[in-house]
Formats: sequence, C-alpha cells, structure tokens
Amino acid sequence: MPHVNKTTNLDAEISSTDLGELPADVVTDHNHKLYIETVGCQMNMLDSELVVADLRKRGYELTQNIKEAETILFNTCSVREHAEHKIYSSLGRLRYGSRKNPRKVIGVMGCMAQKDQKLIFQKAPQVDFVVGTGQLAQVSELIEKARIHHSKNERSRELAVGLGRKDGKHAEITNSFQSYDPLRDPEMRPSPYQAFVRIMIGCDKFCSYCVVPSTRGPEQSRSPREIISEVKVLSNQGVKEVTLLGQTVNSYKHTQDGKLFRLSDLLYLIHDIEGIDRIKFVTSYPKDMTTDLLEAIRDLPKATRYLHVPLQHGCNDVLKYMKRGYTVEDYREMMQRINEILPGCSVSSDFIVGHPGETEESHQKSLESIREFRFKNSFIFKYSERPGTKAAERFPDEISDKIKKRRNNEMLKVQNEISEEDNAEFIGKQLAVLVEGPSKSAQKAVDASSDTLAEQLVGRSNCDRIVVFDGSSRLAGSIAHVEIFDVTPTTLIGSIVTKEYQHNPGSSLPILQ
Ligand code: 5AD
Ligand code: SF4
Repeated sequence: MPHVNKTTNLDAEISSTDLGELPADVVTDHNHKLYIETVGCQMNMLDSELVVADLRKRGYELTQNIKEAETILFNTCSVREHAEHKIYSSLGRLRYGSRKNPRKVIGVMGCMAQKDQKLIFQKAPQVDFVVGTGQLAQVSELIEKARIHHSKNERSRELAVGLGRKDGKHAEITNSFQSYDPLRDPEMRPSPYQAFVRIMIGCDKFCSYCVVPSTRGPEQSRSPREIISEVKVLSNQGVKEVTLLGQTVNSYKHTQDGKLFRLSDLLYLIHDIEGIDRIKFVTSYPKDMTTDLLEAIRDLPKATRYLHVPLQHGCNDVLKYMKRGYTVEDYREMMQRINEILPGCSVSSDFIVGHPGETEESHQKSLESIREFRFKNSFIFKYSERPGTKAAERFPDEISDKIKKRRNNEMLKVQNEISEEDNAEFIGKQLAVLVEGPSKSAQKAVDASSDTLAEQLVGRSNCDRIVVFDGSSRLAGSIAHVEIFDVTPTTLIGSIVTKEYQHNPGSSLPILQ
C-alpha cells in the first residue's frame, strides 16, 4: 500500500537518518551529470523544469548524453498507451549499462509512476525509485537514498506515491498530492521571457476515458498569495508572458482571508504585476467557462484572446459515453458567449476519435463541429484504452486501429483546411507579436552593417498564432509589429514593420491582436 508523504523501500525500510551514517563521499561520489527525458503535457514540462532546477542547485549539470549521465530521470505520461511504451523502451535500453556502473541512479517520475507504481520495478528492475506526481519534492532525497543502497551493494526500490482515489478519506487522498512549485532557475524555462505557473493540480471531472484524476489526484487550487509572489519573482527575472496551468484551469477556486478567488480574480491580480505583458491559461473545461472570466479577458489587455477548451467529440451520444457533462448545444452556447464578449478570440480544441460508441455517423458530427466552431487548431487523439478508467471497465475498445487512423486523418484534413482559411484572413494585416527568439530553421543571413544577426524569428500573436519573420535576435522578449504576407495552416509568415511606422500612431493599418 502506498504511503502518504513517506517513501517506502520495497525490499527493506531505510529511514532518513541512514543518510547521516554514511561517509559523505559514498553519497556524493558520482559525476553529477543529469539526464532527463520528459513526455506528455505542459504540466510535465513544468515538473521537469522544477526538478532539474532543484538538482542544479545541488550541483547537478544537465547533459543530453544519456551514456555519460550517472543520474537519469524519466518524467512520464499515462494518458495514452504509446507514451508508456516509449518510456519502457527507453528503460529497456538502459538495462545492461546500469548494471555495469553502480553509480548510475535511475528514477521514474510522473503519471506512469503514480499509475504503475511497483509494476515499474517488475518491468524494469534497473529502476531505483518511482516517484508520483505529488511527491516531486522528494526527488533529490530519493536519488541519495538510491546511492546509499548501491554503496551497500543493495538493490534500491524506493516508492513514493500518492493515495489511490478510493484508498482513504478525501482529505487524506488530497494531502497525499502536493503541488511542487519551488523558486526556479531562469535557465530552465522554455525561453527567458516565458514561464509556466501552476495554479492548480489534479482533476475531479472523471471523464470516462481519462487517467488524470487518478494520476494527478483531487483538484486543488494554490493560494493567490503564492501565485502572485511567484509571478512577481518571474517578472523580476525578465519574464514577459506567464501561462497559468491547470488540468481544468478555469475551475480554479481558492478561499483566502475569507474571500473566494476565481480565475477571473487571479487574472486581475496578475495584470497589476509590472513587467508582465501577457497572461495565458490552459486548459479550460467547457462547463466552467463563466461569463465573469470572459469579461475579465475582455477588460484586461494583457490577457490573451485565446482559449483552449476541448470539445472532445461532436456527437452527444459519444459525449455521454465520455461523461463530459455537457452537450454540443451547451458548447455552442459557450462559443456564442465567447464570440459576443471576445470578438476575434481564438479557440482550440482536443478531440478523441474511435472512442467506444463512436459510429461513422457520430464521427461525421465531430467533423461538422470543426467546421461549425472553426477552431484555430485541434489536437486529435486516437482513443487509447486506459486500465482503471470507467471507459475501460464498461466498454470494449472495439474500433480498429485502421478506422481510428482514418478518422484521425479526416479530422486533421478538415481542421487544416479551416486553419488555413482563417489564417488567410490575416494577410495584409498587422499583428503584435511577442518575439520568442530564433525559429527552428537556423540563422539565415548575417546583417553586414552590424554585428547583429538577421535570422528567422518566431513569436506568437495575442490570439496565439505562430508568426515567423526575419529580424534581429535582439528583439527576443519584446513585442514586434509584424505585417502578414503569407500563411500555412499552422503559421503566419510576415515582415517586421519599421520602427518609424511603429512610432507613428497616426499612420497606418490598425494593429490587431
Ligand atoms: N485516449 C486518447 N486520448 C485521450 N486523452 C485523454 N485520455 C485519452 C485516452 N484515453 C486526450 C484528451 C485530452 C488530451 C490531453 O488527451 O483529448 O484533452
Ligand atoms: Fe481528463 Fe476530463 Fe480531467 Fe481533462 S477534464 S484531465 S480529460 S478527466
């Protein structure tokens, strides 16, 4: 049985006092090279960022070379089966090498750790510790414990995980999942100007197909006080854009000093923080898209006009199987409110194809919903049966992979057509783009008149569209005005508007979002 806030060695219990009984070099004699592989969502990316930042403070150094690393971490995802396969095959490749070097410590963290627990040691005996999503603060201690075991020639099998959703009282289960949000290392962020900020953990929606309510535990919102102080620190470090994270981020609720704070209240508080230019939040749940939130976005210029609100399916019968708790009509009503209050707001969605109960006719309704709601983009997933979920218990996974693949491609094709059509509307218009830095396609030319490089830069508009254009990398972190001259389904291509033009408010085309 998993323990709350306590680690268990499955072969022998060792208490934390054991750490002090060994000479320091036994614990520290290793090369401090850390390799981490992360799969899954933005929440996982943030978790990895925070764990790495903590380990760097303890002298670790990141390496991309798994062979030289003596500390190897896998941050895992369980949402679909193939994400798990990927990790087990990476672990398989380490099986032989880890036996040769007793200094190598291998840890598995994240959703698969919480879901599979001991099974991971059975499938991958070279793993030293398994740490769930709510126990990340323990990672450095678990690494040290593993080293102690190795130094004694013992096998290390430390397990630190939260309680299952039926394994105790609600408060106990909730307590066993702790949000992990230490102050972080600026070098670990996706870019120096952007940062994720967790505002809540867990999920209580229990969609029938989804493992997240058990892998991430009960819904818990962080206090506005903690969030605000974190955003202030980030702003002092040069962050311009914060993305607030939660599995159902718009369900955020926290009572502080007797006052209830919702996401709209939080947006107002963050909006007042000097230095922050943009505020985004993902992922929203359709039923919690309240009017106060839409009005806050309307009234706060720093809030982006972009919402990620997964519909998941365009057919009410399938939505019912999915236990999503709304109908297509409810979603339509939400979209009408979004369009009325926030004209020009982009909305993106997730869809699942091949969910049990999906017929050819219901699949057509999903295609139709993309045409009707004109999503900016959609993430489309083939249904993957997840053991332990209601869908796995109740319905056979009867739709073949071939059909899922075909439906997936049909969805992508329609979505691409819509995205390209809507992107084409931007041709000839100007957008305010938060410049992230050089695009993936490397430096294009060197500006001979100065030392600055003229390269292809990438950034995002206020409606979350990816914009590429040529410019100096010195623009990174600033808002540039870019005129669009070409588009693809995923990208707007433009050229930067001259400074003269920018500084002349009397002239010109209106600057859009
Ligand atoms: N199979 C396929 N896709 C899934 N998702 C969640 N669970 C499953 C599953 N079992 C998708 C949903 C969710 C996204 C993060 O992953 O669309 O919004
Ligand atoms: Fe999973 Fe549904 Fe929660 Fe999203 S809202 S994390 S799909 S259970």
